[in-house]
Amino acid sequence: MNNTELEGVRDVWEHLGATDPYWAVLTEDEFHGGEARARFFDSGRAEVAGLLKVLDRDDWPEDTVAVDFGCGVGRISFALAEHFGTVVGVDVAASMLAEARANNPFPERVRFVHNDASTLPFEDDSVDLVVTVITLQHIPPSLTLRYLLEMIRVVKPGGRLLFQLPSHMPKPQPLPVTACRANLTPVNAPRVLAPGESAYVEVDVRNDGDRAWPTGQLLNLGNHWFSGGEPRQWDDGRMAVPGPLAPGRTARVGLRVNAPTEPGEHELVLDLVQESVAWWAELGNPVVRLPVSVIATSGAAPAPVADAAPEVEVEVEVEVVEEPPAGGKSMQMHGIHKDLVVGLFEQLGCRVLAAVPDDRAGSDWVSYLYAVEIGEYELRLR
Ligand SMILES: C[S@@+](CC[C@H](N)C(=O)[O-])C[C@H]1O[C@@H](n2cnc3c(N)ncnc32)[C@H](O)[C@@H]1O
Repeated sequence: MNNTELEGVRDVWEHLGATDPYWAVLTEDEFHGGEARARFFDSGRAEVAGLLKVLDRDDWPEDTVAVDFGCGVGRISFALAEHFGTVVGVDVAASMLAEARANNPFPERVRFVHNDASTLPFEDDSVDLVVTVITLQHIPPSLTLRYLLEMIRVVKPGGRLLFQLPSHMPKPQPLPVTACRANLTPVNAPRVLAPGESAYVEVDVRNDGDRAWPTGQLLNLGNHWFSGGEPRQWDDGRMAVPGPLAPGRTARVGLRVNAPTEPGEHELVLDLVQESVAWWAELGNPVVRLPVSVIATSGAAPAPVADAAPEVEVEVEVEVVEEPPAGGKSMQMHGIHKDLVVGLFEQLGCRVLAAVPDDRAGSDWVSYLYAVEIGEYELRLR
């Protein structure tokens, strides 16, 4: 691999796969630590049933080969195997695939392939169907375009692509300052972390503003790291605050944070942000500062699982932060405008059969589920 963007994507997902793979796939509390496994895989069945309706084709031969791109722990792959002869799950994270292989109910017909290249590990015209959901949205657009071209290459003429991809974010309307008032109460938080370790912080977010916080306005809980009163890492984790949230109401938000790589005494600083508008500290809303000791572990032992880190009764100190430096990393969201996606396939002799509005990317995005029939066009990008 010689692609720093792809390395970044791989590192994030390797880490998530090694620490909390089921939650990383479906970020709902009940899936932390591999809990509610039956419901998790049932959701894959329901999702595939819906996907096949969009595909609207039922003359698939018994030896159909379906590829699940970004298969994670196999939620969609196993459900596809209930409809198609052979399924190949492809993923950039070996940690995700280890979990998928360990639970494979169809070892004869479902296999998992690790791929950390920007090409796909299949021969030309060797696949009947590629399915991918909640994956391309986490991949930078230049790489997604490359993968879409690869999908055209590997799918047989007459075969299908079924993929979900966000298009764009409608521009947020800045909330009035009087609405940007919140009380943040951490419910649990780690007190000790290893350098770079990821951890999960639950925070009760109460609307102390003068009106409801609407949906689709890119309102997130986020965090920074400070040490010695100075910002050490600005802009780390992000999680949407579910809306609408009326004044006086509280929503519990789970935020994944990544400890600084330098050992020492740090502060985890929690704040709300309306993306592309402002951090609420800049608008005078108090942040919450939590002390966290980052301690290097000796030897090559793996970092402890985030949720196993000691929890504390949090002493909340309230302050206002003013400095806004740059940086940060977490699970990213990306999109490619629908006009470009449709134009690309049409230019390459493929037929866009459907582009159905889709809510998998959350309320902040306009997103679509596309069904495409692969044409005879000879595309051989190498
Ligand atoms: C949110 S999970 C979705 C998993 C699965 N599609 C599902 O719906 O259950 C996203 C998956 O995409 C994988 N992924 C991210 N970038 C990838 C890439 N460039 N190539 C292959 N897989 C990738 C991640 O490792 C992760 O397992």
